[in-house]
Amino acid sequence: MTAQPIKKTLPPQNEFMTDVINGLTSDQKTLPCKYFYDEAGSKIYDKICELEEYYPTRTEIAIVRKYVKEITAHFNPDSYLIEYGSGSSIKTRTLLDKLKDLDGYSPIDISGEHLKSISEDLHLRYPDLAIYPIEADYTQDFDLPEPLLVNNNRIVYYPGSSLGNFTQEEAIEILTEIRELAGPNGKLLIGIDLVKPIPILEAAYNDKEGVTAEFNLNLLTRINKELDGDFDLAKFKHRAIFNQDLQRIEMHLISLTDQVVNIGDHSISFKKSESIHTENSHKYSLNSFGYIAKKAGWENQCSWTDDQSWFSVQLLN
Ligand code: AVJ
Repeated sequence: MTAQPIKKTLPPQNEFMTDVINGLTSDQKTLPCKYFYDEAGSKIYDKICELEEYYPTRTEIAIVRKYVKEITAHFNPDSYLIEYGSGSSIKTRTLLDKLKDLDGYSPIDISGEHLKSISEDLHLRYPDLAIYPIEADYTQDFDLPEPLLVNNNRIVYYPGSSLGNFTQEEAIEILTEIRELAGPNGKLLIGIDLVKPIPILEAAYNDKEGVTAEFNLNLLTRINKELDGDFDLAKFKHRAIFNQDLQRIEMHLISLTDQVVNIGDHSISFKKSESIHTENSHKYSLNSFGYIAKKAGWENQCSWTDDQSWFSVQLLN
């Protein structure tokens, strides 16, 4: 994959530092959301998925459960399943329960530690399944295991509406790369969160228990631990708002006072109320998603939604 080629010239241990310093020295301070997912962050994300207010996970799981027969009827025998951003592979189980003849399964995840323990669990649950985990940031180049390369019935599974983290341009780029990876017979099964009334969207990212706040603030904990930072977590507040113009939820960390934070040799000043923009989660309509999918060379085969049309699962070829 070709996104962000500049950063690939740096050794990986510096990449986090470089991204953090670049982000925090921009006019609008930002931090890349991929750094949410260390082992702790992956676990907090699992807690988010179980929150009352966070409708996407349970809605997507219900759709896949309800239509799993219809969905998998489109797959060729002896297919190979590749999952983008597999996390804890919970949604995947519905598919794995049904697909008994898979040639192989490659979960791709950025958190190596989490990926390892999840792959071990999956192996116990599905002893006959050949699992080849790939630890990678899927926006960058990664190596493919041999059994995947020789399989011509590749199914890419990209659940969770994680594509929503990217701008339209980046999303088209990723979908184009998936089109290439999938090959001529390839299919993409993707979960896409849909636009809906703003209070529902905002509640999903501002839960009462504060789990999303914990998830957001964990980014600062991670910087403190891994990059010798001294963020005082009590001096930042989580905020999530829906940006109507850009049709996306934005998560921010708001500085509660004027302050200076040190990260290694760097000092970063914050004004009171200044924000660090930590995540975007774009929401689509069936049409707006159809448009970018088409731009990336995909055709829509089928889509399934829940009764309220809050979430969609789409099969592209
Ligand atoms: C994993 C990117 C799909 O955007 O809804 C959940 C991440 N952030 N709550 C999302 C997230 C805050 C989630 N994705």
